[in-house]
Amino acid sequence: MALLLLADPSEDKVRSSLAGSRCFAAFRDGVVVGACVVQPRGAGVHELMSIAVLPEHQQSGYGTVLLQSVIDCFRASGASQLEVGAGTFGYQLAFYQRHGFRVASIDHDFFVRHYPEPVFEDGIQHLDMLRLRLRY
Ligand SMILES: CC(C)(COP(=O)(O)OP(=O)(O)OC[C@H]1O[C@@H](n2cnc3c(N)ncnc32)[C@H](O)[C@@H]1OP(=O)(O)O)[C@@H](O)C(=O)NCCC(=O)NCCS
Repeated sequence: MALLLLADPSEDKVRSSLAGSRCFAAFRDGVVVGACVVQPRGAGVHELMSIAVLPEHQQSGYGTVLLQSVIDCFRASGASQLEVGAGTFGYQLAFYQRHGFRVASIDHDFFVRHYPEPVFEDGIQHLDMLRLRLRY
């Protein structure tokens, strides 16, 4: 949970995403250093709900391996697309787009409507959410 909360500050939202989902983890020397949750959306569509790597292990390639493994796993299972929601700024956008995700739509004021407290990153408040989509 501590790991997943790095990707989404709402424990309620993280917990509600777990039922029926699959969890993937990245290990270093037998210890989990990264994890993500993927929820089925039906008709070959899956949503990556949270992906996070422990701060001390970020920028070491674990996130890339984890995301690529998820993409490959669902491609092999015959999925049609993988979706993810992300803020409108930050290195995460480049991270997803480097793997082939493209912007599908904008959910205006998502972070205002779905979180009890304002969500800040790099001193900027997250307001809108970009829906990103990878088509297989
Ligand atoms: C997003 C995240 C899962 C990526 O995992 P990672 O192991 O750090 O990623 P990688 O080492 O494979 O690096 C992927 C790219 O992201 C960049 N990156 C990762 N962390 C970064 C940071 N804190 N600041 C700037 N760039 C960063 C890397 O430099 C790399 O870019 P490059 O290929 O141009 O060098 C991880 O940084 C994380 O847990 N972040 C906090 C939680 C989060 O924001 N999750 C996503 C919610 S939408």
